[in-house]
Amino acid sequence: RTICCIVGARPNFVKIAPIMRALTDCDRLTPQLIHTGQHYDVAMNSIFFDELEIPRPDINLEVGSGTGTEQTARIMLGLEPILSTRPPDMAIVVGDVNSTLAAALVAAKLGIPLAHVEAGLRSGDRSMPEEVNRLVVDRLSDLLFTSEQSAIDNLISEGVSPRRIVFVGNVMIDTLRACSTRAAPVRSTLSGAGADPALSEQAAALGFAFVTLHRPSNVDDPERLESLLNALARIARKITLVFALHPRTRAMIESAGLDALLLTSSIIVTPPLSYLRAIGLMKEARFVITDSGGVQEETTALGIPCLTVRDSTERPVTVQQGTNILVGTSIEALASAVDDTLAGGGKRGQIPPMWDGKAAERIVAAIDAHLGGRHALLPA
Ligand code: UD1
Repeated sequence: RTICCIVGARPNFVKIAPIMRALTDCDRLTPQLIHTGQHYDVAMNSIFFDELEIPRPDINLEVGSGTGTEQTARIMLGLEPILSTRPPDMAIVVGDVNSTLAAALVAAKLGIPLAHVEAGLRSGDRSMPEEVNRLVVDRLSDLLFTSEQSAIDNLISEGVSPRRIVFVGNVMIDTLRACSTRAAPVRSTLSGAGADPALSEQAAALGFAFVTLHRPSNVDDPERLESLLNALARIARKITLVFALHPRTRAMIESAGLDALLLTSSIIVTPPLSYLRAIGLMKEARFVITDSGGVQEETTALGIPCLTVRDSTERPVTVQQGTNILVGTSIEALASAVDDTLAGGGKRGQIPPMWDGKAAERIVAAIDAHLGGRHALLPA
């Protein structure tokens, strides 16, 4: 039986790697991989395929950049002829990006059974493009694979039959565990990024905080972006910051003329980092400042304190059990959370249930059983 995995953006690649491996290991299933081309740079795309040993995609739709609607429409137009000519026995989509939404819509309209990995996460904030994607994809999915209890609760309260929900754990943590020993050393990452040698040595020897910010709510409004960068410049007087700039954030900083704010203090700016470099920095950081979804989970799994610059999280287990603190969007709150973290060593946590590196194996076992007509779906 053929299982078609559809991916498009950086976090998708991290999640699909263990699933492709587990599918390949299953004699009864033949994986196929379609890349939408939503992310296309070497730094956002091919380096992840290389490091995570993801097979080359069978097809790349090369949709590139655009508004969310443009991306979604182009992916749908590209996918429909492919999936209708040779319909797979099941389509798998992961996460919540525009590629996930577009692929789910096409599969559902063609009557192809659909599995969603990382189902049920809800921020409750529909101004996030990802939240709209999550709601629609879950509504259309036949099998919903969840990573934490809140996701099961959300799906049940939305009326999804518990028979379709399978609690499998977190595929992103499968990848983290598989790659942790290969993480890149901090010094080599910083010198590879062309950072000032004295500043890099200071970061490696005395400690640093790792920063990633790219959510539209933080970076698309120039005033908001300016105040965040000012806050980072103040924090950098207390601890060196390593700021991995997402292309979206870089573009916004440049168009708002805010580049100077990054030059004035102990901030090491790097391009988007490869997976092994990013987890190498995360593992060694005193703490992390982020608005990413995946980084909230990775820091919890690594036991590194995380300050999330958002008002809501779709991953509450990272706050309830892990090392994550939802700081909110106030600059003052961020500054005081940093002070508390520096003074107290940061929040400690525990590893959430089923974040054990075996989520992809459970997903493939459930799909195999489902397609084989066996009754292996567990009640949630
Ligand atoms: C997308 C996802 C987000 C995820 C993030 C991780 C959606 C709605 N959002 O946001 O959930 O956390 O990816 O990176 O799908 N760009 C490049 N090179 C690339 C890819 C993008 O320069 O390889 C530029 C684009 O031209 C665009 C900007 O980055 O200007 C944003 O890319 P886009 O794919 O629209 O969304 P992200 O902000 O990356």
